[in-house]
Amino acid sequence: MATYEPYDKFYRKAKAMGLPSRAAFKIEEIIARHRMAPKGARIVDLGCAPGGWLAILARAVGTGGRVVGVDLAPCRNVSAGAIAIVGDILNESIAARVANELGGGADLVTSDLAPKLTGIAARDQARSRELIDAAIEFTARVLKPGGAMVAKMFMGEEFKEVIAEFKQRFGEVEVMRTKASRPGSSELYVIARNFKRR
Ligand SMILES: C[S@@+](CC[C@H](N)C(=O)[O-])C[C@H]1O[C@@H](n2cnc3c(N)ncnc32)[C@H](O)[C@@H]1O
Repeated sequence: MATYEPYDKFYRKAKAMGLPSRAAFKIEEIIARHRMAPKGARIVDLGCAPGGWLAILARAVGTGGRVVGVDLAPCRNVSAGAIAIVGDILNESIAARVANELGGGADLVTSDLAPKLTGIAARDQARSRELIDAAIEFTARVLKPGGAMVAKMFMGEEFKEVIAEFKQRFGEVEVMRTKASRPGSSELYVIARNFKRR
């Protein structure tokens, strides 16, 4: 069985590089492998605290791009070139605020959203499903036609249904794991491209 190592090599590397979280290496790998987040892109990052993905995305898009994050929790140090809004993605007014800050349709929406776990499997699974559904709805309000989404999800009963939902909305959908995911973790990343105009 895999053992949980809180201070693993990704944690130590993030600390040495001054990154707010080890999660930063997941989005770094995803955007490098899939050539996402080019210079000048507009990106929305859902579930952005403490700010690891924001740091990587802001660096990737450079000074000509724009990165807007949203989280229930504040980010302590937001990277230059990014802004973080404290709010709940389930609150309808937040998508309008994000679109306003972005100044145009997003090229990419990333979601590393995760619910607070209760340890009660059925409740955690339902909350996870609610969040991924909300992330897709939020994305539909801010993403440009032709744009892309990267979304974390957990392998579970709802997996097939969620992938079917992505396939209805995007022209290309694939699923990957990242090297920085913890051993034994059921987390997966959906890479969805070519958002369809409704
Ligand atoms: C795994 S953490 C994100 C880590 C982040 N990507 C990073 O690199 O630092 C998941 C985040 O999802 C946020 N979250 C969960 N439900 C949310 C909601 N309804 N609206 C906004 N953020 C939410 C949590 O507050 C938490 O900070």
